[in-house]
Parts: sequence; C-alpha cells; structure tokens
Amino acid sequence: MLDRLERLPADSILGLAAACRADPNPDKVDLTVGIYMDEQGRCPVFEAIRSAQQALVAQEVTKAYMPPAGDEAFIQGMQTLVLGPDSAALAEGRVGSVQAPGGCGALRIGAEVIFRAAPEARVWVSDPTWPVHFPLLGSVGLTFETYRYYDPASHGVNFEGMLADLQRTRPGDVVLLHGCCHNPCGADLSLEQWGEIAALAEQRGFIPFVDIAYQGLGAGIEADAAGLRLLVARLPEVVIAASCSKNMGLYRERAGLAMFVCRDESSAQAAVSQALVAARGIYSMPPAHGALLAGRVLSDAALAQSWRAELATMCERINGLRRELRHKLAASSGRDFDFIERENGMFSFLGLSTEQVLRLRGEFSVYMLDSSRINVAGVNRRNIDYLAQSVAAVL
Ligand code: LMR
Repeated sequence: MLDRLERLPADSILGLAAACRADPNPDKVDLTVGIYMDEQGRCPVFEAIRSAQQALVAQEVTKAYMPPAGDEAFIQGMQTLVLGPDSAALAEGRVGSVQAPGGCGALRIGAEVIFRAAPEARVWVSDPTWPVHFPLLGSVGLTFETYRYYDPASHGVNFEGMLADLQRTRPGDVVLLHGCCHNPCGADLSLEQWGEIAALAEQRGFIPFVDIAYQGLGAGIEADAAGLRLLVARLPEVVIAASCSKNMGLYRERAGLAMFVCRDESSAQAAVSQALVAARGIYSMPPAHGALLAGRVLSDAALAQSWRAELATMCERINGLRRELRHKLAASSGRDFDFIERENGMFSFLGLSTEQVLRLRGEFSVYMLDSSRINVAGVNRRNIDYLAQSVAAVL
C-alpha cells in the first residue's frame, strides 16, 4: 500500500533552510525561516526562560498528562499578554482558551471550532499570506477566499482593495488577519485601519480570526496587540491564535494558545468544550514543557521584567537592521529601499523576481524564499555588505 505514495517536494520554507544548511559556502546567508537570530547567527534562549527552566527541572516531580485545556498560569498569563490587563472581555468572563501545540496548533484548533459552529463559513485570507495557513485551516474542511492586501508597487497595504474585497463577505464568514508583523510582507495596518476593519465587521457580520505570532517584535508588546485589542473591545466574537515561538524563543517547545472571545460566558465555555473534543481527536493534550516555562515567566514579576527587556532589545535590533539594510541596499544598487524601514517584524519582500532570487541562491549562496521574502533578523554585521552587494549584482 505505502509503495503507492508519491514523494512530495520539501516544504517551501523548511526545505530551503535545509538547502542552506547543506551549502558548504562559508559566506552563505540564511534569510529563510522566521526565527530570531542574534549577531552571531544563533537563535538564543532568553535568560528568563533559562532561569525558569532550571527551576522547573529542579522542582518537577511528575510527567503525568497535562490537563486537556493546558497550564492555568500559562493561560492566564497569555490571555493578559494578548488582550491586555484592562480587557473588558476578560473581566466579563467572555474569553475561553485552550493551550495548543504552538501557534500552528492554535490555528488548527481555532479552525476546528469555527467549522463545528459554521461549516459553511468561508475563511478570507490576505493575498499573500503565510502558506501554512492553507493546510492548517483547510484540512478541517473550511474553504478560502482571498482579499487584496499587499501592493508590490507601493510596498505597502492596498487598504482600499482590502476593504472592497471584504465588502463581499457574508455574515458568519471568517476573516483571517495578521495581528502584527505580517508574514510574509511586513506591512501592517495602522490603528485607524484596524478601526475601519472593526466597523466593516460590524456592518458585514464577519468574525475576525487573528493570528498573532510576533507580538513584541514589531513596535513593542502593547503596540503590536493594539489592533487586535481594538477588535476585541468592539466586536462580540473574535478568534485568536497566539504563539510563544518567536517572542519567547520557544520554537521547538510548541507553546501556543487558542482564544475564543464570545458573546457571553456560557458561549465561551461551550467553545472551550468543543476545542477540547477537537484536540482529543488530534493530539489529546498539549505538550507541557514550553507552556510551563512561559507560564512561570509571565507569572513571576522579575522573570517577566527580564523577558520584556530582552524582547525589547531584539525588537530594537531588528528595527536597527531595517535601517541599515535600507541604506546599504540603496547605496549598492542605486534604488529606493525606504519601504524596509516602514515595515514591522522579521519579514520583508525585497521585490526581486524569482529569477533574481534563484541567481542569488545559485551564484551567491544567499537564501531567501522564492517570493523574495527575507528574514531581516538573519542579517548581521558580518553578512550585511555581502548581502547588499549580491542583491545589487542581480538587480
Ligand atoms: C516562517 O514563516 O518562516 C515561520 O513561521 C516558520 C514556519 O513554520 O514557516
């Protein structure tokens, strides 16, 4: 039976990272997967996470199953982090959450619950979006529509196009939004535009599903969640998938949270009960380690302060790299790269053709996605000149 299977190509993001790892060129530049890398090209463990881990390992007395909904300190800490300490929805008990295996698990559980509530709902995704959104939400049975989002000419959001396309939503449709640091383009909505999306959701009756995987890596923890919090303050229902992969460096530990902001407490409890049944049918209960670490960090004032400070340093470094890269690229190519500085988070489209991207890979060992998406955090003092010169050479 298994010999009938066709061999599939490698993942468009992870496969490229593997190709870069295998490249023997000492000057190679890895701008593929969205992980934070420091000046030495390492993806560091946060100091607060290291301390929490030492304490956890020293105190741990069991490896028994986690409760199906996850660790309570993690859930409480993450809800406050994402929705804010003054969230009315939280105070009213209208938010139900379950811990999930990473942001991907949270997206999948969110989709499972949406499908159980409204199998006919269409999910509107930005053009472009993170490619993994399609299998994560589509495998549940939901269907997709796209709305215009990125305008390659202006390197910014085509907000008029977005609004026009979302005018075609039906009541009960779901609109998938990137909470901040849009993956793949880095172009985010302004707070005013989030307000217009909230008004459109009220008018059309669609439900926002917000993927917030990069909180703290764009303009800071609070600013990055401001658009999402605005939606939650104004709308009766919002589904959220949050991740600790990037902002706590817990990539491999798979710590995420699916949140259901509902009309009332009993609907929130119903959503959680549905999420638990869905999770039981996939992985039963979430992995412990990463969420226990995040829960400790978020519930301990000293650890939380240390984590926030380290995250702010990473965010500043990325924004500094954006400034430098913009200048270096402009100087070496004579073209305008101002847009890099206007964007948020790890990603930017350099605006190269696939042919130019392939030349960069083949001739210079500079690895970015075929779409010319780069991970800005992969740039450092050692590779920035080489990168700028290589890009100029293919332009
Ligand atoms: C990315 O977009 O590179 C990251 O979100 C990692 C992944 O799983 O694709």
